Amino acid sequence: TQAFEYRQNQLFAENVSVQDIHQTYGSPCYIYSRAAFENHFLAYENALQDVPHLVCYAVKANSNIAVLNVLAKLGAGFDIVSIGELERVVAAGGDTSKVVFSGVAKTAAEIKRALELNIHCFNAESDAELDRINQVAQEMGVVADISLRVNPDVDAKTHPYISTGLKDNKFGINVDQAQATYLRADSLSNLNVIGMDCHIGSQLTEIQPFIDALDRLLLLVDNLADNGITIEHLDLGGGLGVVYNDEQPPEVSDFIQSIKTHLGDRKLKLIFEPGRSIAANAGIMTTQVEFLKPTEHKNFAIIDGAMNDLLRPSLYGAWQNIVPVTVRPEAEQNTKVWDLVGPVCETGDFLGKERALDLQPGDLLAVKSAGAYGFTMSSNYNSRNRAAEVMVDGDQVHLIRKRETIEHQLAGEQCLPA
Ligand code: LLP
Repeated sequence: TQAFEYRQNQLFAENVSVQDIHQTYGSPCYIYSRAAFENHFLAYENALQDVPHLVCYAVKANSNIAVLNVLAKLGAGFDIVSIGELERVVAAGGDTSKVVFSGVAKTAAEIKRALELNIHCFNAESDAELDRINQVAQEMGVVADISLRVNPDVDAKTHPYISTGLKDNKFGINVDQAQATYLRADSLSNLNVIGMDCHIGSQLTEIQPFIDALDRLLLLVDNLADNGITIEHLDLGGGLGVVYNDEQPPEVSDFIQSIKTHLGDRKLKLIFEPGRSIAANAGIMTTQVEFLKPTEHKNFAIIDGAMNDLLRPSLYGAWQNIVPVTVRPEAEQNTKVWDLVGPVCETGDFLGKERALDLQPGDLLAVKSAGAYGFTMSSNYNSRNRAAEVMVDGDQVHLIRKRETIEHQLAGEQCLPA
């Protein structure tokens, strides 16, 4: 069953009516389904159960500690890109020995903290970064486990802002230079080379780009073996797409199966870093219609959710489904085409354009597929308080982040002395 579905014209989150959640927690509000998070994670676990593996949930997709805790209880690892994300994993009771540390510019302080917490490995992205990790490890008298992020130069065929595996992207080490960098890493006294990783982009709806990347990585793995460097794990990053509209991404099980088949009998542990495919369809964001403003050219519905709450439509032109929380019986006759715009002072502030909906002021709407890159990309622009987050678990609703107040916003600020 779906986490968010209608029962008698009312949208439910698991067994709780979204309208009821709104009455208690207001809007805009992020609403997550525990079961959906678990099922999406377990799809990876189940597909990988017969091979050595680690599923490292990409914390950036949704980093609320309740989400991390639910996944940690299922044995998840975590892919982090900052010390902030690492401290969240710790606060959520996650196992730091299952953490991989990605990111293009890890600071010395971040490296130190990660070494103290004994993470699984650093996904290093450059020669200079290897030197820095080696230096910090030396000062601490430890050895740092290293994977190198290889840029395989494949086209992920996704939005240019979320495509990362082409040679003109800032990410990783060019596949042609990677062997030299591996040899150098191997020569540094406080580094221990254990893995190879890549991440070619996000919201991929085909398997082929993954296979192309895998082919290039495997060639390198074999060449390294000839040079005495053993790669123990292969980390193919995240990137599997989800259904926002009419996309047809592969099932997790089919995706994993083709990777396994392609690996043949190589004894490599497989790591994945899924974010979106676990989180996106485990959440919605509710928003209320404030005013209707029909004009000669366009019908605007002004809603209380804005680009600061959910940035994807403004930043990428991303399309997310927007549905009524309560469907009125006469909806069909009263449907008009609306642009759903927020209160922020930017023309680019919209959550959806040209949506056929039956709207009245006060109506509650749900933006679907908002569990990934929703709250985590939100901001205080226009001094708006960030939304509340709740997690539904069966017929229970738990507040997992309070709606911000102006006191939160002002907490760190002060005027000049008089
Ligand atoms: N691993 C690395 C190294 C990454 O950079 C990312 C995402 C992931 C894993 C997780 O990828 P996923 O499974 O979620 O595709 N804000 C954009 C997406 C940016 C993705 C950045 N990297 C959006 O809202 O579409």
